[in-house]
Amino acid sequence: MTSNEIRQAFLDFFKSKGHVIVPSAPIVLKDDPTLMFTNAGMNQFKDLFLGNKKAEYTQIADTQKCLRVSGKHNDLEEVGVDTYHHTMFEMLGNWSIGEYFKPEAIEWSWELLTKVYKLDKSRLYVTVFEGDEKENLPASTIALQEWKKYVNEDHILFGNKKDNFWEMGDTGPCGPCSEIHFDNRNDEEREAIPGSQLVNKDHPQVIEIWNNVFIQYNRKADGSLESLPAKHVDTGMGFERLVRVIQGKNSNYDTDVFSGTIEAIEKITGLKYEFSDSKKDVAFRVLSDHIRAISFTIADGQLPSNTGAGYVIRRILRRAVRYYYSYLNSNQPLFYKLVNVIANQFANVFPELKAQQSFVEKVIFEEEKTFLKTLESGLKRFDNLNITNNVIDGREAFELYDTYGFPIDLTNLIASEKGLKVDEENFKIALQEQKDRSRKDAKKVTGDWVEINELKNVNFIGYDNLSSEDSKIIKYRTLTNKDGDIYQLVLDKTPFYAEGGGQVGDIGFLNVDGDFIKVLDTKKENDLIIHFVDRIPDSFSSNVVAEVDADRRKSVEKNHSATHLLHAALRTVLGDHVHQKGSLVSEDYLRFDISHFQKMTDEEIEKVEQIVNDKIREDIKLQEDRNLPIEEAKKAGAMMLFGEKYGDSVRMITFDPNYSRELCGGCHVSSTGKIGYFKIISEAAIAAGVRRIEAVTANGFDKYLKSKLNDLNKISEQFKSQNILKSIEDLIQDNKNLKKEIESLNAEKASGLQSDLLKSVVEINGVKCIVSHLKNIDAKNAKTLAYNLLGSIASGVVAFGVEDNGKAQIMIAVTEDLVKSNGIHAGNMVKELSSFIGGGGGGQAFFATAGGTDTSGLTNALEKFKTMIV
Ligand code: SER
Repeated sequence: MTSNEIRQAFLDFFKSKGHVIVPSAPIVLKDDPTLMFTNAGMNQFKDLFLGNKKAEYTQIADTQKCLRVSGKHNDLEEVGVDTYHHTMFEMLGNWSIGEYFKPEAIEWSWELLTKVYKLDKSRLYVTVFEGDEKENLPASTIALQEWKKYVNEDHILFGNKKDNFWEMGDTGPCGPCSEIHFDNRNDEEREAIPGSQLVNKDHPQVIEIWNNVFIQYNRKADGSLESLPAKHVDTGMGFERLVRVIQGKNSNYDTDVFSGTIEAIEKITGLKYEFSDSKKDVAFRVLSDHIRAISFTIADGQLPSNTGAGYVIRRILRRAVRYYYSYLNSNQPLFYKLVNVIANQFANVFPELKAQQSFVEKVIFEEEKTFLKTLESGLKRFDNLNITNNVIDGREAFELYDTYGFPIDLTNLIASEKGLKVDEENFKIALQEQKDRSRKDAKKVTGDWVEINELKNVNFIGYDNLSSEDSKIIKYRTLTNKDGDIYQLVLDKTPFYAEGGGQVGDIGFLNVDGDFIKVLDTKKENDLIIHFVDRIPDSFSSNVVAEVDADRRKSVEKNHSATHLLHAALRTVLGDHVHQKGSLVSEDYLRFDISHFQKMTDEEIEKVEQIVNDKIREDIKLQEDRNLPIEEAKKAGAMMLFGEKYGDSVRMITFDPNYSRELCGGCHVSSTGKIGYFKIISEAAIAAGVRRIEAVTANGFDKYLKSKLNDLNKISEQFKSQNILKSIEDLIQDNKNLKKEIESLNAEKASGLQSDLLKSVVEINGVKCIVSHLKNIDAKNAKTLAYNLLGSIASGVVAFGVEDNGKAQIMIAVTEDLVKSNGIHAGNMVKELSSFIGGGGGGQAFFATAGGTDTSGLTNALEKFKTMIV
């Protein structure tokens, strides 16, 4: 069976058992503060398990894009080194939301594996939870009974909490589980040691393929387990591993899931993949794994960056670059060329990549280019490391890691090529210190919910109302961060819009019996609407009057509707390649990020503004379709965003069916005239292939205009002229003339200085030296002067102490003959002298500089220099 057939057979099988097949949720999570990426198929159903939301279907199956590189489930360092861990992997899953339980789940998993996929039963082992006394959890006797119906007892094993109790993260739904393992070893090995002894022992050929979790509990923030009202099934099968065992391969990478990528890498690098543990072959595996994770997360809307989820992506991408740079002899971007292979391979399963292929390629290409440059400069930094007894200082190895992105194994590798070692102990200490620092900064503790009323469905009434007279508090919890405590509170009915779809959360107040409590922000957690309040009311039983800050909300609505008008105008003016890559809709302005490869011209900006303002003046009525079946919205041509999770019924916002139609959960004006006026105030690149547009409307535009006019008036006043443009042109011209004059005066001064300095040559131990304390000369001119002097004296050393703008610099230049014959090394001398000026520096043997703040040390530094020529 091909991998595509294997996937299809899974979906068909569960469809035949009454499951609804749903699409994969995006790999990047938006509304769950406990997770950055989807790490299991069940994530998108978390609220259904917890009972926070009613299930549309109670039997579901799908294939889910998952990423395990951060948090509780983190496999990154194994990936590529072994043959069965991945960053991104597909998880085939079937779920029962309060419907069937252990008997059916177990029966069906056995039927699928042995009857449909025809796996050899003698190679299959299953595990059952043995219970845990500390947690007061019983052994899974029912699972054991069920398995016994199909599996010989010597193939059923008991497992502990680590292996047989599955938890999504530090908190959330969880329960005991039964894993199914496959023994892929040859007969001889199987005879020597039974597979049962190798289950869950990290043997590369005895691997877990499927996990059947029986969700019964919720792990709370205080560590305790709470029983859930209903019992659920959550299963997850590693697609790549399944394909491997069905196709009878020894490694996931030998299956047709990866062979296309591996062949492409062979073509690009001219090297051969040889199925071994060599670093070269590890690099092949790393690249063919990582390209999937990177491509799909970027396609789902996460760009590489320096923080959060973006940083995780950047780290994976850099790991790939480092491997091809170190082990595939490549120092040019090549990773981006693999996107094409993946996009075609998954065109029918996850079409979002094919649809954005050139954008994803561009982002990856630019990241690679930048990191390769950093790698090069890191290598240069290697020449100036502090090395004692052939050991590189651990703190400097940390600097390489932190500033240049050199992981410690790369530093070790380069060090060993140079016959050096790295002080790993000190490296680890520095790394730990950094971790502690960031943990301290990020310290945020969320307490457990205190339930006040039983949760029915949270009702959002904020599209039609800005206040509610009779809301009830459902639950609250404390949020402690470094500035103290605030509270999160959930109401059964609320007009407060929770941050989402780029739109900021509402602020306002809650009035509980005349006690006014400020709502500082509103956010979503899965489907809960959470009000951030500065304190909790004294009484929880009274009705709550919830009042949104209406002026602010109205400004936000104007900006949100303007964003839709802008989106449509951009596609008209720039083309259909424009996709939304992020947005912020606030009270003061709107920000809209798009995929577009070059700077917008002034004419394009003007055209876009014109279209939007025309649409505003047409005063187009808002057409809002709530609870529209998604298929109808698609048919109506509504714009959908990549990386967004849409349910079966959606909300569609239309401003003229022929102009703007988007799926959107945000708040809008009732007709476009309310937006008043639209003006783009900036357009710039924020990442490769992504442009950011900022714009203002209505009051924001008034403010913008006022401040511009104010500036203009002030400038007029300064010039005391009515013709400001002419005055500025004159000023620029005058400035140019003055600059020229200064340059020629400086040149005159420098040539005078040069001839004076030439007269000051002294011989120190037979070496011609020019030693001088210079003032008011910049570093560039001082360097030119030093080189000119060396040219004139043919063989010698120039040492300057330079004082400029309150800063001190030591500069030493040496002619090449002396570097070679006398071993004079400017870099070493400068390093030593830098302590005189309270600074640091270094460089090469023939030229080096050190900078510092203490100009008073320059004289002594130069005196010391004279003693160093021996
Ligand atoms: N949630 C379980 C896992 O990820 C089964 O789907 O292993």
